[in-house]
Formats: sequence, C-alpha cells, structure tokens
Amino acid sequence: KTHDVPSSIRLPADLFQPERVNSAGLDLTDENTLRELAKNLAVPAPRLGETGEPVLNPADHSDVVGHVTFATPTEVTQAVARAQSAFAGWSARTPQERGALLAAAADRLEAETPYLLGIIVREAGKTFANAVAEVREAVDFLRYYGAQVSNTFSNDTHRPLGPVVCISPWNFPLAIFLGQVAAALAAGNTVLAKPAEETPLIASEAVRILHEAGIPANAVQIVIGAGAVGAALVGDKAVRGVMFTGSTEVARLIQAQLAGRLNPDGQPVPLIAETGGQNALIVDSSALAEQVVGDVLSSAFDSAGQRCSALRVLCLQNDCADRVLTMLKGAMEELAVGNPTQLATDIGPVITAEAQSLINGHIDALRKQGYSVHQTAMPEACAQGTFVPPTLIEIGGIAALKREVFGPVLHVVRYARQDLNALMDAINATGYALTFGVHSRIDETINAVTARSHAGNIYVNRNLVGAVVGVQPFGGHDLSGTGPKAGGPLYLRRLLSACPALSAP
Ligand code: SER
Repeated sequence: KTHDVPSSIRLPADLFQPERVNSAGLDLTDENTLRELAKNLAVPAPRLGETGEPVLNPADHSDVVGHVTFATPTEVTQAVARAQSAFAGWSARTPQERGALLAAAADRLEAETPYLLGIIVREAGKTFANAVAEVREAVDFLRYYGAQVSNTFSNDTHRPLGPVVCISPWNFPLAIFLGQVAAALAAGNTVLAKPAEETPLIASEAVRILHEAGIPANAVQIVIGAGAVGAALVGDKAVRGVMFTGSTEVARLIQAQLAGRLNPDGQPVPLIAETGGQNALIVDSSALAEQVVGDVLSSAFDSAGQRCSALRVLCLQNDCADRVLTMLKGAMEELAVGNPTQLATDIGPVITAEAQSLINGHIDALRKQGYSVHQTAMPEACAQGTFVPPTLIEIGGIAALKREVFGPVLHVVRYARQDLNALMDAINATGYALTFGVHSRIDETINAVTARSHAGNIYVNRNLVGAVVGVQPFGGHDLSGTGPKAGGPLYLRRLLSACPALSAP
C-alpha cells in the first residue's frame, strides 16, 4: 500500500523501471567469499588522514578506524561557493550523462564491496549481513535514480534547484548517505554532503568513488562535522534545498532554520526529511507463532534496533500472548551479541556511549514504573564497547511511550480482539507514521488494520525492516517525515525547481 502516488497523478510506466534488477550483493554462505572478507578486515584504517579526532569502533574502543578533522566555518562557506560555481556545468550535462556517471559509480562501488564492508563493520558496528545489505542498497539507489533521469528527464522541462545540502545518519552510513547524494546529483543539483559525525570514513570513501567514476569534484563535496557544521550549511543562503535523515527534533530545527526562505523560483526552500517511528506490529491469535518470532527478532533487534523502521511495540492478542512471548524469549537467548568483526555476531553495539545511556535510562525508567524487564546476557568482551543487550519490556499501553528509543528495546502490549480499533487509534495517536505490520491469517483483520494505519510502509505477514529500492518506496508521514518516499518514483520531483512544465505529467 502506498500513499505516495495520488490517483490524480499519472506516472509514465518507465518511472517504475520494470526491467531494472537490484544488486545481488555477496553470498555470506560461500567460504571463498568469507576468506576474502577476513583478509579485508586485516587492512588498516581507510585513507582519511592520520591526524584529527580518532574514529573508534563502537564495539571495541581500542580499535581506531581512522581520523577526521571537522570543517571550519570558513571551509563551509568556501565549499558552498564551490558548489554554486559548479552548478552551471553539472546541471548542463544531459540527464543521460548524469545517469551514466551514477551507473559507473554503482559499478565501482559494487566492485569494492569487500573493502567497504570492513569499514562499515568497524566504523558503524554493523554486522556483515547488515553491511552487505547496506552496500547493495547504496548500489541500487545509484542505479535507480540514474536510470530514472536517463529514461524520463529532459533539461528543457526538469530544472534543478542549485546547491543541495544532504545530512545523513550513522545507522545507514553508506546507503542513506549515497541515496540522498545520488538523488540530488541525478536531478542536476550540486551537493554538499555532511555525513553523521560518527561515520565520516565510509562516507569519504563513497565520495572518492563518485569522483573516480567521473563526477566533478565540486559537483559533490563532503563536509565533515557535527551539528554546527550542518547548521552552517543549511543557514547558507546559497543553498537551495536540504535533504535530512535523522531525528524528528533535528528535522524541526532545520525546518525552523529554513522558514521564510524562498528560492529564486518563488517557492520555499524544499526540505526532504525522513525521521523516526514508534513502529507497531499487530499479532492476532491466527498468526503462525514461529514466523512471528523470526520476524520480531529481525524487526526489533537486527542492527541493535538502530533503524528508523525497527519494531518498537509488539501488540499481542491476549489469546496468543503467553505462547508467543515464551517462544520469543527463548529465541532471544540464541542471539549472539558481540563485536561484528566476528562473523557469527547477530547483534552489534549501539553507536555511542551517549546512545547507550539514553537507552539504559529509558529501560530504568520503565523498570521504576513497575514493568518487568527481560534482557539477554552479554559476553564480557562487550565491556570494550557500547552495548545494550536485546531487551523486552511488557508495558501497560502505548501511551506509556513518549518518544522513539533508538536501540534494541522491544515493548509489548496485550490487547483483546474487541479493542483492535482502539489499539490502532492509540498507535496512530503517537503521531509517528513510519512502518507498521500485521501478522494474521484472517483477511478481515488484515484489511481493517491496514486501512486504519497512518504508516508510510505497511507490511503484512513479514518483518518491518529492509525496504527494497524501487520495489518498496520508503518513508513516512507526520512526525516520521515529509515524504516523498526514497527509492520511489516521486522522490526526484522535490529536488527540482517549480516550473510550468512539471504540472502536466
Ligand atoms: N530503509 C530502511 C529499512 O527499511 C530504514 O532506513 O529498514
């Protein structure tokens, strides 16, 4: 189900790219592949300088992955000026040229997969399986937006905005970073890309690959820093658009910063924001418990719960709740928590000590309210980094949750069949509307809850994570973001200047 394409809009068939095939990634069951990966892990830190602040592996703080220096205010201004002067040249390239350069970058990225995996695993603390999926998604974004402009754009009718700022998160330090950048470049904008301060190394490697593929140095520049650098970029009046993925709070700050600013076309400076969720899964007593448990584990604990799409609230019908919870707690015990440089690791660290203490503070607060907390044990080695074990807390109702908690914490509520509509209303009342799921074998239940959900991405009898580029356009509404959906046919429109030709599809 998608809210993204109003029925009044007719989309050319080739926007859906029926012929395009997504990247296959690596097969982690293949021994030769694994041997190659092990070699890459021995490679020293990436080529991002030996001076500046150390970037540490969140799973093991004695592992220095590289060093970075943050941009100064003068460097930010200079970078924006370069993006401004590069705009005429980049936007004059034909859409087919821009698409071909993005496709060339995708090929290079794919070829460097084993090297990139090592950085993602150590810098972001992601498991190998997650890192493989991450490189695949990045490759797919490059090819998807590249194909879209090649097939459907014309410089006569599609006018880019100018310099666009891309501010991306650490939880998808390659896929979301490159997804934003690829979209902005494809549309003909020049890009100032500020990766999360926690994951600048993989982002720097991504920009190196874009440049090596032939995209001009000033058409896409990386600007490294913390929030102050992001604010300086957004505040520069030469910036004509902003893409942001991160917290709802920071999205609001950016929105406030842009308020009242108009582009030369007379339109407000566009902001594409993808933020958080209070994502719920309804499980009724007709659902297959074994499948539910597998999907809950991946939705709630994969990536240590650090996905905006992750499951936060599991809603179990009374009749099946005890049965599902017994199986779920047993399955949680089987999850291997540890350093993702070990291939067998299922659950890695949380990103920083600050994140760890926020999550632990939330767990403690619920414990003090009298809710019982179920946590799995952690190996001693986890003390080397910032870990939170998979945690399950049964709470009285969704209203007990005031905001998104970005970690491996699953809240459980029970419901009675006759209260299903009230439960859906409570889910919607959180104000977030990102992902939602239902496990049921009763069509009426599936239809009723999916129709009532406000969420952007709705999943039936499967997990809630891992939306696929071009297949499941991803994004939410309300507190969860502005749309349009990433990896979908309408995304690039927001990155274009308003011009009369656009109103007639
Ligand atoms: N697109 C990711 C997912 O679907 C979240 O950013 O899990």
